[in-house]
Amino acid sequence: MHYAKPPIMLSDVIADTPQVHELLRQNAPYTPLGGWFRPQQGQQEPTSPMWFQNDWVHGDVAVPGADLFMLHEEVTEAAREFYEAEVVIPHTLYVNLMACLAESGPAHTDNPLFEGRDRTNTPMWLLRTMLWSGLFEDWTIRQATSIWWMNDVDGGGLLYWPDGPASPPQRHCENMTNTALLGDNHGMFHQVEPVGPFDQGTRLVTASAELAPENDGTGDWAVRDHGKIAYRAPLEDFRISVLWKAHIYRDQQEQEERQANPLSLEQVARIFGDDLEAKGSPLRLDLEDLDNPEQAMAIAAVYPEAIPVDVGRSIFDALM
Ligand SMILES: [Fe+2]
Repeated sequence: MHYAKPPIMLSDVIADTPQVHELLRQNAPYTPLGGWFRPQQGQQEPTSPMWFQNDWVHGDVAVPGADLFMLHEEVTEAAREFYEAEVVIPHTLYVNLMACLAESGPAHTDNPLFEGRDRTNTPMWLLRTMLWSGLFEDWTIRQATSIWWMNDVDGGGLLYWPDGPASPPQRHCENMTNTALLGDNHGMFHQVEPVGPFDQGTRLVTASAELAPENDGTGDWAVRDHGKIAYRAPLEDFRISVLWKAHIYRDQQEQEERQANPLSLEQVARIFGDDLEAKGSPLRLDLEDLDNPEQAMAIAAVYPEAIPVDVGRSIFDALM
């Protein structure tokens, strides 16, 4: 497995930060993170930490004003420099707003993408197993990620493992306002540290809670959960980060060649089959049985994910 090199730190990234406040207001409300972390949670129980997330650019959707980040010249240039690549294609922008998490986020690498295979046509367990197998580098779409921080809050630092999961992490904390970290979050483990205020531990809301400006002249934002205010605080007290992702190709020729050779599921099964055979394993990837968790666990066990050293306890482990 190849691990990423250290990310590039940028400062004074956004010249016009009030424009970000405007973007945040225009695109409220924000909803709790769900998805692959805890997909089966119900709507009625207060099981979600106050980790809110919305997409600003995804697929064909882009909110007005998103170009402030999407077309950011310094970030794009840093991506070129990091990968020594000419082609940078920004494709995704999303925002995290967090408060009151007494534990860390999960230590993780971001979900991989391959030419022809992504979460719309391939189960996530298989994409992640493809990543950890190291067998699909020729089809991996390299991703640059920039994380930009709006402000400094109590806690809320970022741990990252630039020297691989077996070496101690580095830490970006305090003085995070208007900085960004540009690197390979698909190859480098990273983890959000606990976010304050810490006076009441981790506060939980239901999956249908919403975070939005109060519009009562105070400047506060509030979390409303089933009609009641679960929490309110000035916007500056929430940890706010904006994440930008781009496809990377060395040059146009590489882009054309790679895009002309998308991976089929049959190829995926064949490549795993050859490797499993070489390992002396009787397992094979059964494409008719991709939703079977037993098959997923058996194959994933052959290609285990690394576990980084010195991780903080994850909020999602704490809640399970
Ligand atoms: Fe991440």
